[in-house]
Amino acid sequence: MNKTKLTDNIFMLSANIDHMLFESMWDVPHGVSLNSYIVKGEKTAIIDGIIGWDGLPESLYAHLKEFDITPESIDYLVINHIEPDHSGWIENFKKITNDFTVVMTKKAEAMLYSFYGETPMDTMIVKEGDSLDLGKGKKLTFHPIPNIHWPETMMTFEEDSKMLFPCDMYGAFGTIKDTMFDDQFTKEDRVFYEKESIRYYSNVMATFSKMTKKAIEKTRELNPFVIAPGHGPVYRENPSTIIDAYARYAEYASGKGKNEVTILWGSMYGMTGKAVEKIKTMIEAKGITVNDVRMPQTTSSEMVTNVFKSAGVIVAAPTYEYKMFPPVAHAIDELGRKKISGKKAFRTGSYGWSGGAEKDFNKIIENVKMKWDFLESVEFEGSPNEEAIKSIEHSVNTLCETMQENIIE
Ligand code: FEO
Repeated sequence: MNKTKLTDNIFMLSANIDHMLFESMWDVPHGVSLNSYIVKGEKTAIIDGIIGWDGLPESLYAHLKEFDITPESIDYLVINHIEPDHSGWIENFKKITNDFTVVMTKKAEAMLYSFYGETPMDTMIVKEGDSLDLGKGKKLTFHPIPNIHWPETMMTFEEDSKMLFPCDMYGAFGTIKDTMFDDQFTKEDRVFYEKESIRYYSNVMATFSKMTKKAIEKTRELNPFVIAPGHGPVYRENPSTIIDAYARYAEYASGKGKNEVTILWGSMYGMTGKAVEKIKTMIEAKGITVNDVRMPQTTSSEMVTNVFKSAGVIVAAPTYEYKMFPPVAHAIDELGRKKISGKKAFRTGSYGWSGGAEKDFNKIIENVKMKWDFLESVEFEGSPNEEAIKSIEHSVNTLCETMQENIIE
């Protein structure tokens, strides 16, 4: 557990979690941090809970002692978001004391009891602009941002320090260890956290991109000096970096992207793989970055991240038992569920004795309402012959040209 003083009477407790699947499905090879914050005035509030705490009273006492706080002196639990990676500690905390007030939105109240039992708790229900004066100059205001990432979510703003606690918003994967603040980043750290924030956004937030834009508007109104999210580093040198990055990611979700093409592909015996090799060479010769995403060898997390950030996508998959090669079919389904739309795209693939992949593919994209701008597919029997390669080359050239209008870096 990292324990840090952020500013006068505002503290951060952060647990780094490795070797886990986030939401029990997303591989996080570089881990993730779960951040909690304590604001101390005459009254004390904890924002987003101490998730790295093992549930033992004595360890909570030890964590808080460093900030000269006892669990019994905590007056308010501010629950920005009920998802258990932020609120899951309440059950154990209730065993230590019941003398606290939970601060949350109306929508969060019903969820709080369904998740953590029927025993009544003192609650303070807040709506946009409501405030809580903690004394000694510390004042919290509350700002609901529904569907970031659940419908009950809000951001909390501390007025004296102009510090924003946006919970999932502005989060990133990647543990934080010694690089907790953006002003401590090395050049490599900046590259690392940019990658990890794209991975986090694409895996967790992409579906809610319309609401992300509203949360960005709200953030800009508040004009915070510091952004202290529930996951990843704290931005105090230049909070606009992460605000602008999130604005860009919201656009990636509707088709904009980097000057990159992701080849999302699978091949049983290398026939489709031969076409992929040709495609890769063609695109690289144009100076465009290629993300080689082979399924099922690539994790879903990596697959979604690469497609999400690319302006162009090529799907290459053969027919398998009259349908599309299942690992690629599942990937397409997942991308549709994430509501990633507007990508410039093209599909190719091999078949043996019968086709079927194209029909199956069209069914999947109709089912998940995938609004991508697809060029006409090129299918070929067995290994790609000269004619097939020529057609593929034509489509790849068109894709690389048309995607240029969607590029934002
Ligand atoms: Fe970090 Fe939606 O939980």
